[in-house]
Amino acid sequence: MSIFQSGQIGNLALANRIVMAPLGRARSDVQSRVPLPRVATYYSQRAGAGLIVSEATHVSPNSVSRPGGSAIHTAEQVEGWKAVTAAVHAAGGRIFQQLFHLGRKAHQGRLPGNALPVAPSAIAAQGEVETPQGPQPFPVPRALERAEIPALVEEFRQAARNSLLAGFDGVEIHAANGYLIDQFLRDGSNRRQDDYGGSVANRARLLLEIVDAVIGVFGPGRVGVRISPHFEVDGIGDSDPAALYTHVAEQLQARGIAYLHLIEPDSVEPARRLAPRLRQLFRGAFILAGEFDRARAIRALAEGRADFVAFGRLFIANPDLVERLRREAPLNPPDEATFYSGEEHGYIDYPFLAVG
Ligand SMILES: Cc1cc2nc3c(=O)[nH]c(=O)nc-3n(C[C@H](O)[C@H](O)[C@H](O)COP(=O)(O)O)c2cc1C
Repeated sequence: MSIFQSGQIGNLALANRIVMAPLGRARSDVQSRVPLPRVATYYSQRAGAGLIVSEATHVSPNSVSRPGGSAIHTAEQVEGWKAVTAAVHAAGGRIFQQLFHLGRKAHQGRLPGNALPVAPSAIAAQGEVETPQGPQPFPVPRALERAEIPALVEEFRQAARNSLLAGFDGVEIHAANGYLIDQFLRDGSNRRQDDYGGSVANRARLLLEIVDAVIGVFGPGRVGVRISPHFEVDGIGDSDPAALYTHVAEQLQARGIAYLHLIEPDSVEPARRLAPRLRQLFRGAFILAGEFDRARAIRALAEGRADFVAFGRLFIANPDLVERLRREAPLNPPDEATFYSGEEHGYIDYPFLAVG
């Protein structure tokens, strides 16, 4: 299998096996969080990817991070996203929207009514969060009441309806990187005593309810899930990742969703890798992400370790990444200083290969 060969995710035909990983770039409108015209330009420049997964998009006004982070819970935001999907489709690309809720990684300084962020349990993430007063330690969140959980699932369902209305080809549920769904999944952050905590099945319940809700909107063939078993920087570890993610993969397989998107770089030591086991259990499309370069991506597909590979930072810096990889052309280096700020600079002004 070559990374340049056409592929299929659900019933969607894709031009190649190269996925643009979800990348929050904080370039939406600061007040309304409506994607600005530059967002449409940015994604259409990168439409050479077989599939684009959008930046993580807030499903709720109770999930607010740095200014410019995007959302899809108002009619105005839906209108803004319509321009983005139209531009990507006009350029021949395909785009799923990544949906997320920050949970404990929000800050009361940004939430409506200065409310405390919510989480499965009242356990703060380790590290600091950007607030209007500068960086501060993550707050101790408020543990969600059992009775509040259906409304949370509803927010994801409504967000998926909005994604559909906005013209996205599908949605990816963000169950990775320490955000709310991940906080429920792992026992380092979930100490609940009810049926959303304790056993692996209970901790996966929220994810699976959300997946079922968005399947009701898009159908299983247009739904993906992203997981990051090795992400632990904010103190979110799990006591038995193999048991947890085995259950998740089995349950997602039972639902027949389009793809499983696993962040597991080659730098993870072989004994700790979950990809081989999860790939056996989940028979939809398998996307692998994390520190890929051309050679590693080609090897992963040649060895049958994945069906698709996702590139993150290289797509930030190289709008025509697929063409550069095809031609073995030099790559622009990503500029970290403009990952989350800089308006158009570092966003839509990375150079394309010279024609010819
Ligand atoms: C600027 C930046 C923003 C990111 N935003 C997201 C995001 O919104 N959702 C997500 O799942 N991962 C996000 N990630 C993680 C990437 O999708 C990817 O997993 C990570 O960069 C590793 O891949 P790479 O080595 O190819 O860059 C982000 C990474 C970077 C550098």
